[in-house]
Amino acid sequence: MDITSVGVVGAGQMGNGIAHVFALSGYEVLLNDISSEALSGAVALIDRNLQRQVSREKISQSDKDAAMARISTTTTLTDLGKCDLIIEAATERETVKQAIFEDLLPHLQPHTILTSNTSSISITRLASRTDRPERFMGFHFMNPVPVMQLVELIRGIATDDETYQTLRKVVDRLGKTSASAEDFPAFIVNRILMPMINEAVYTLYEGVGSVESIDRSLKLGANHPMGPLELADFIGLDTCLAIMNVLHDGLADTKYRPCPLLVKYVEAGWLGRKTERGFYDYR
Ligand code: CAA
Repeated sequence: MDITSVGVVGAGQMGNGIAHVFALSGYEVLLNDISSEALSGAVALIDRNLQRQVSREKISQSDKDAAMARISTTTTLTDLGKCDLIIEAATERETVKQAIFEDLLPHLQPHTILTSNTSSISITRLASRTDRPERFMGFHFMNPVPVMQLVELIRGIATDDETYQTLRKVVDRLGKTSASAEDFPAFIVNRILMPMINEAVYTLYEGVGSVESIDRSLKLGANHPMGPLELADFIGLDTCLAIMNVLHDGLADTKYRPCPLLVKYVEAGWLGRKTERGFYDYR
């Protein structure tokens, strides 16, 4: 199946990165958010990030202009009904994602593929609430989307082979690399990454090291590009906690217990870079 138009739901850090890479690869992109301010902020950020690629000679000025011209925005979710592929990148709450798919369903074309960029929620369960579980998949991008090479492809129990092969080809056209994961809590990347971040928070909580020494240890001792606490701030502490809760509930093993300090920071509204305060102070 040929995909030419893509609807992206949610203009947050994942949604705007996804819109950026699809537009740059020649797809028509319709970006949706309930907030018009979020949409104009996302378009401005995509413009800045594309300009950064122009100034580093990764792309030409005309590539950037063509990509910007392929992006349009709407606050009306149902406008996305005309797209061949929907990528839901809304907040990591199952009820929110379900409501989006329910609202979209009556407006979709029969061939449209539905996907979710969820970092942990069951694809089979999300798909079962739609009219097309065979054309539903997990399509998980990494942050920052324009830079990170990987896209996780997660088939629900009912996903058909044509849908899977179509999305593999889309990933190729984006110039990215896919890895297939089975539909178990948090799939592959977050099944491994989040317990490491959670353990770093326990290391801080138990006083084994300061924020700086924990991050320096993993950056210089294990060659990670960012320390785990810096990375948690980058991802968002609310997202980290939501993923740990999915692992804890879904696998029923105490080794996935979210660190109480992570819970406390989220309760305080210290969510990392997006609120200018997390393990570091960005104010
Ligand atoms: N758009 C376009 N280009 C961008 C960009 C963006 N949003 N952000 C960074 N870049 C580019 C820069 O222009 C730069 O390009 P050049 O190589 O051409 O110079 C390059 O990326 C590196 O950026 P910087 O020089 O600004 O900074 P850096 O070297 O410190 O790298 C980083 C920044 C790429 C974010 C790096 O620190 C890194 O890889 N961190 C780890 C990120 C990671 O682990 N992400 C996965 C998170 S988990 C996830 O996303 C899954 C989930 O569900 C939670």
